Amino acid sequence: MRAATGRTSAGAGSAFVPAPGTAPSSAPGPATAPALEVEGLTVGYTGAPVIDGLSLAVRPGEVVALLGANGAGKTTLLRTLSGLVAPRAGRVLLDGDDLATASVEDRVRRGLAQVPEGRSVVSELTVEENLQLGALWRHPGRAERRAAVARGYELFEPLARRRTSLGHQLSGGERQMLALARALVAAPRVLLLDEPSLGLAPRVVAQLMGVLRDAAQRTGLTVLLAEQNVTSALSIADRGVVLSLGEVVADAPAAHLAADPALRHAYLGF
Ligand SMILES: Nc1ncnc2c1ncn2[C@@H]1O[C@H](COP(=O)(O)OP(=O)(O)OP(=O)(O)O)[C@@H](O)[C@H]1O
Ligand SMILES: [Mg+2]
Repeated sequence: MRAATGRTSAGAGSAFVPAPGTAPSSAPGPATAPALEVEGLTVGYTGAPVIDGLSLAVRPGEVVALLGANGAGKTTLLRTLSGLVAPRAGRVLLDGDDLATASVEDRVRRGLAQVPEGRSVVSELTVEENLQLGALWRHPGRAERRAAVARGYELFEPLARRRTSLGHQLSGGERQMLALARALVAAPRVLLLDEPSLGLAPRVVAQLMGVLRDAAQRTGLTVLLAEQNVTSALSIADRGVVLSLGEVVADAPAAHLAADPALRHAYLGF
């Protein structure tokens, strides 16, 4: 099932308070330098490349929906960007800096965060401890960390009621809220998300999407969102990028992609 979401925040998202030092986003213009840039990226596991010479630029504050059929290479691209998979060729740049020698941890410290598929939270830790872990990456001071964790609770009200619950005691929706809140309390510059809507009720999907849109608008967060839930992703995205067999086959404003029957039929399956 797919949830229609608006461009405005859904409920709890409106409580988002930007971290100190983060500027509200201005409308990104064509001259804005990319926050994330991928140049000629080629990635493979054993045989033929899964990503083949892919190039992509995402501007600060832009929300890009990464779409494509099962096996198109979305997860592989995100895992390569976050440093979990080494590319065979090509470059990844964060704010103009080449990440070739940066470890996964270095990338997180520099502001590149990922919410991987599967609501990844630490099951044996409480909600509060999970949020504190998220804040540890980028907030050195204790007071700063406490403020960041408080912002996490403002994003998703249900989490505030489950502070002392362990990760494995949460519902699927609550776990995904926690995974997203944990990434956001680290105040990333660029957030990569792999299918955050998978298996969630439409209302929860709408809430997650609203929080993402809100964070992009208010703090200039750059979002690359891999989704099978095309309608929800395009409803909050500025732009949609469609992958097929590891190549970009369409790159267009989200409204254009959603409205073009030929594109939808050829690449998006609806
Ligand atoms: N660890 C791996 N080892 C070998 N091949 C892999 C591995 N992970 C993915 N692949 C292959 O790479 C291709 C792209 O997979 P990937 O998971 O990136 O696609 P995806 O677009 O995320 O698909 P989905 O929508 O199903 O999540 C597929 O053919 C897949 O079988
Ligand atoms: Mg995938």
